[in-house]
Amino acid sequence: TGFDLIIRNGTVVTASDTMLCDVGIRNGKVVALADKLGTAAREIDATGLLIMPGGIDSHVHLAQPTSDGSVMADDFESGTRSAACGGNTTVIPFSLQERGTSLLKSVEEHHQRAKGKCYIDYALHAIITDPTPQALEKELPQVVQGGVTSVKIFMTYQDMALNDAEIFKVMEATRREDALTMVHAENFDAIQQMTERLERAGQTGPRGHAESRPIVVEREATHRAISFAELVDVPLFVVHVSGGDVIEQIEWAKRRGLPIYAETCPQYLTLTAEDLDNANMEGSKYVCSPPPRDKANQKACWDALARDVFSTFTSDHCPFIYGSDTGKKKAGADASFKYVPNGIPGVETRLPILFSKGVSEGRISLNQFVALSATNHAKVYGMYPQKGTIAIGSDADIAIWDPHKRVTISQSMLNHNCDYTPYEGMELKGYPVTVISNGEVVAENGRPVGSAGKGKFILRGKSSLVPSRHPFEA
Ligand code: URP
Ligand code: ZN
Ligand code: ZN
Ligand code: ZN
Repeated sequence: TGFDLIIRNGTVVTASDTMLCDVGIRNGKVVALADKLGTAAREIDATGLLIMPGGIDSHVHLAQPTSDGSVMADDFESGTRSAACGGNTTVIPFSLQERGTSLLKSVEEHHQRAKGKCYIDYALHAIITDPTPQALEKELPQVVQGGVTSVKIFMTYQDMALNDAEIFKVMEATRREDALTMVHAENFDAIQQMTERLERAGQTGPRGHAESRPIVVEREATHRAISFAELVDVPLFVVHVSGGDVIEQIEWAKRRGLPIYAETCPQYLTLTAEDLDNANMEGSKYVCSPPPRDKANQKACWDALARDVFSTFTSDHCPFIYGSDTGKKKAGADASFKYVPNGIPGVETRLPILFSKGVSEGRISLNQFVALSATNHAKVYGMYPQKGTIAIGSDADIAIWDPHKRVTISQSMLNHNCDYTPYEGMELKGYPVTVISNGEVVAENGRPVGSAGKGKFILRGKSSLVPSRHPFEA
């Protein structure tokens, strides 16, 4: 007895089990799972509803600086608000080390941007763009010590792409520090050559973005990154996989026994390159990297989700306002695709899309949904079982879903700071109705409850994908 909150009569779903029971919460933690719990200060009746671990979105971009004058639409306040309303209780944005700057300082600065602004808990990944000895040998150990235990590297983008030697060096450093390496795998030089060819042909509209980086560009870089990970002997996490040829590489590596893991995102399940095809700049609303492919690749991503090839499902939320001169049209309404900032909003729609198209339409099981939306993120990024499950002692981060609720996605219902959604008009079945972070309701029926500021930084431990090495193995 004496709970702060009891959620009654719902169906509790974890990555492994489905059970009918009450959930008792005290001091922000789950403290009881049982039939007919006693009394509480507050009760929620979840009859007919699903009680699932709050979503963890382990790939989002919030308030991240850019080098081209564009401005990300969401900061930590609007981004975590939008995340909470879409069923999430933890996000992991990226701190960006810009070339010529300190890695450690970039992480500290991103902490400052988050401070006091979050509706839900957050952790951080570190992007390394300048792998100097100082960054890798002096600063990375401190960054990892501070709970930022994953490093993302880019194989494309001006001012961000690492060359092969640099990729190798970062992997050696992450191996030393027991950090997880994440990679954005696209071949920068190939994209540049393709871009010049398209410009010569006058094909500079948004569709050119997809034409400039066909899947072979992603496949080649993925294979190269996998090969380096094999040489250096580190696990590797390939982010935002867009289709079949890349999935083939991931499965090839897994078959060889290599510790290679990957994620995919809603845009690769529901959008195609044709969405970029527009006479005016409307197509820029769908410009992201890698670009959406075609129906066959959508199916390849769904099939790979169903057979557990992907460890996680993330949004890659990276919003730029369409009607702003720091957003999608920053270089003018008829500028070449190469000036359109890359990224689309999606932190709020990620889970409703996966639930509706995945669970409601029978492509994945409810337990797979929980694994892909929360549990595996917590394991991969060193937060389990504090996060990512409903168990005694876990943080009371819970999303209560109505599996029958019908929602049509529209910009007007969303809580991000972007001015459009690429999923406008999509009809869904199933939506989160009550979202609880550390025992307190933070969103109800798609709207925020209370104010920002209670979300805290989660100091992460070592990824479950990083092996424990014996001392003599160095
Ligand atoms: O286009 C995208 N995905 N923008 C976000 C940055 C990244 O590459 O993940
Ligand atoms: Zn990326
Ligand atoms: Zn991203
Ligand atoms: Zn060993």
